[in-house]
Amino acid sequence: MKVLVIGATGTIASRVAQELLEQGDDVRGTVRDASRVTALPVGVKPAIADLDDASAVNKAMEGIDRVVLIAANSPRQAEQEGNVIEAARRSGVERLVKLSVGGASPDAGLALARAHWAAEKQLQESGVPFTIVRPGFFMQNLLQYASWIEADGAWRLPMGESPIAMVHANDVAQVIASVVRSEPLAEDVTVTGGASLTMAQAATAISLASGRQIRYIDGDPDAYFAQMVAAGNDEQYARDMTILYDQVIRAGYAGAVSSDVQKFLHRDPLDFAHFAAESAAIFRAEALIRG
Ligand SMILES: NC(=O)c1ccc[n+]([C@@H]2O[C@H](COP(=O)([O-])OP(=O)(O)OC[C@H]3O[C@@H](n4cnc5c(N)ncnc54)[C@H](OP(=O)(O)O)[C@@H]3O)[C@@H](O)[C@H]2O)c1
Repeated sequence: MKVLVIGATGTIASRVAQELLEQGDDVRGTVRDASRVTALPVGVKPAIADLDDASAVNKAMEGIDRVVLIAANSPRQAEQEGNVIEAARRSGVERLVKLSVGGASPDAGLALARAHWAAEKQLQESGVPFTIVRPGFFMQNLLQYASWIEADGAWRLPMGESPIAMVHANDVAQVIASVVRSEPLAEDVTVTGGASLTMAQAATAISLASGRQIRYIDGDPDAYFAQMVAAGNDEQYARDMTILYDQVIRAGYAGAVSSDVQKFLHRDPLDFAHFAAESAAIFRAEALIRG
């Protein structure tokens, strides 16, 4: 089966591409320009297509049976996903699996949730058979904050004390790869970890795995926003993350556990201790860099 994976150098899509290769599929992956070809998993055939370039996306779609659509969050996300959905419609693909978010709606507080809703609506109206996959908060999100941990171990993020059903990126990718082939076509899928944990518990697990004493401290949302912008994120994304952490997660809306990993993969989801163990070196290295 010929499968096109959009954004195939990304956290989830690179893992999906790897899973599809292992399933025996013929995998084509988009990269935004030629310089990113070397970042593709070995065995994935490159298609150079900036998602803003509709004709390049049409070309990438030629001869494709099924599509996995995972787009980066950006102010152009709805238009970029729209180019992929339109290309899929024109070429008559059998199926498109789209990664989305919980709470996608036209009047969501997060711009990224409004963009996902717009893409979902276009997909529903396109006539292309589809499945929407909604993951919880990726455990791997925490890696971008490893360098934020202060010399005394204080780790400030504005997420409050509510439990979060964090999910491992490998589980999200394996469920998507399964949904690409599942018969009959799956309905909406929600992928979370098997248990929810607070950020204080996450910090304790990383401390145990890395040997570094890390203390989660409920941070100030304005300071978080400023630090995200200083780290090079665009302001819309930094604002979305601030709202997500300070209002959605803090209020406990990210704690619900789904059984869909068990349903599609016939095993338990990977737990946070697994993520902490495999990421321990990253958290230790940050301590060494800081001295
Ligand atoms: N993080 C979470 O907890 C979470 C939870 C639920 C849903 N989501 C959704 O997951 C999606 C992000 O997944 P991810 O974290 O796996 O993505 P990611 O790692 O940010 O990867 C995004 C991919 O898109 C590519 N890309 C960016 N701009 C492009 C353009 N103009 N043209 C072509 N390719 C472009 C990137 O290429 P380069 O390698 O060249 O940069 C990269 O391959 C978002 O839609 C988000 O809303 C995330």
